[in-house]
Amino acid sequence: MRVEPLTRLVGHLAVPGDKSISHRAVLFGALGDGETRVTGFGRSADTEATIEAVRALGVTVYEHDHDTLRIFGKGLRGLVSPGRPIDCANAGTLVRLLTGILAGQNGQQFELTGDASLSARPMKRVTEPLSRMGAALETEDGHLPLGIDARPLRSITYELPVASAQVKSAILLAGLYATGETTVVEPTPTRDHTELMLEAAGVTITRRESSVTVQPAERLDLGEIEVPGDFSSAAPFIIAATLLPGSELHIHGVNLNPRRTGLLTILERMGGRVTVYNRRRIGGEPAGDLDIRSADLVATTVLGPEVPLAIDELPLFALAASCAHGNSRLRGAEELRAKESDRVEATVDALRSLGQHVIATEDGFRIRGVPTRPRGGRIESRGDHRIAMLGAIAALASADGVEIDDAECVAVSFPGFFELLAQLKETSERQEA
Ligand code: S3P
Repeated sequence: MRVEPLTRLVGHLAVPGDKSISHRAVLFGALGDGETRVTGFGRSADTEATIEAVRALGVTVYEHDHDTLRIFGKGLRGLVSPGRPIDCANAGTLVRLLTGILAGQNGQQFELTGDASLSARPMKRVTEPLSRMGAALETEDGHLPLGIDARPLRSITYELPVASAQVKSAILLAGLYATGETTVVEPTPTRDHTELMLEAAGVTITRRESSVTVQPAERLDLGEIEVPGDFSSAAPFIIAATLLPGSELHIHGVNLNPRRTGLLTILERMGGRVTVYNRRRIGGEPAGDLDIRSADLVATTVLGPEVPLAIDELPLFALAASCAHGNSRLRGAEELRAKESDRVEATVDALRSLGQHVIATEDGFRIRGVPTRPRGGRIESRGDHRIAMLGAIAALASADGVEIDDAECVAVSFPGFFELLAQLKETSERQEA
């Protein structure tokens, strides 16, 4: 896939439903008693894997239209083992959360598998706490395939060694089936979609500054859930409009959960010009519309506590910082190495091959900003959707355009990404003429 440079970006857009929330809506709907209706569902390869997984477990999912689902749940304890492996494809959120849920299906056995990327990612972070709760779990040296022998669970208080919403969620979900209350202590706050959705489904959740406690539950009752637009899918366009002089872009109906919008805080420090308007709630989450204008950026440092709040946007931060005045740093982000690819190396390789000055460190990047257009060139996505989108945005801001290898992997989170980009380019170029 080749993406050509663009002068400026203007127009209005909406992005598909949030991936994290869509996964949870399907999983929690599967555990509901009766029907859950999901609107604004973010359809992608990842979230379709979740639909297929719950279907394999005996749940009926009726795809009313492209982004509306009707899920006929089996109740908290009603999932039935398919007697064959459940394929979690590329989806880390699916495999981690489902492990917590299946550990609670007392008396049954399950096996979870995934693609090559997912099979290279660490699973011990979920099997360790769930084993402490009493589940019998087996992995291949901490990796998929993951075998689950569900037994009665006891409650625990668990201090997360890494800040991970997926691990926190797996433990909270297993906690629904435990003998007493289960507490997860977080080193630094991570996204709280699980807590918000469980509360909306009637579960008793107690939230403190650095911990969350869940009470065992008898039933989940979601009823209807509207999924707001995915901030992580809006982020590439936010960076594009920021970098291209004369841009004015509006993105509507975006999830603005403060545990997700670290990129906005970072950009603000760098001199970015993003204004939020029409603040509202969508599906129990903070949301709003964004007005993004181009800006001359200055360097900044991003440290550990800010990392989980911008985790999936850090490659885009590296691009922005490489086009800013001054030297930027990212530290405390070793987790980036455990994503769909090693995103420290993938980002550094991609940006360097376009002529940018970025070097990898153990826990992040060092970036020398040069406030001119990146040269352009060719990047390897490494099959990682976020890296492919990084390449496309770098292309718009480049002098010569960018060739993206294996660009189709954007379908993991955002199948219509390149079509939307092409439409926006057309609108922007027409206004130019
Ligand atoms: C997610 C949590 C984050 C994030 C991922 C989605 C979630 O992962 O990177 O894209 O839906 O809970 P970690 O919890 O592993 O940091």
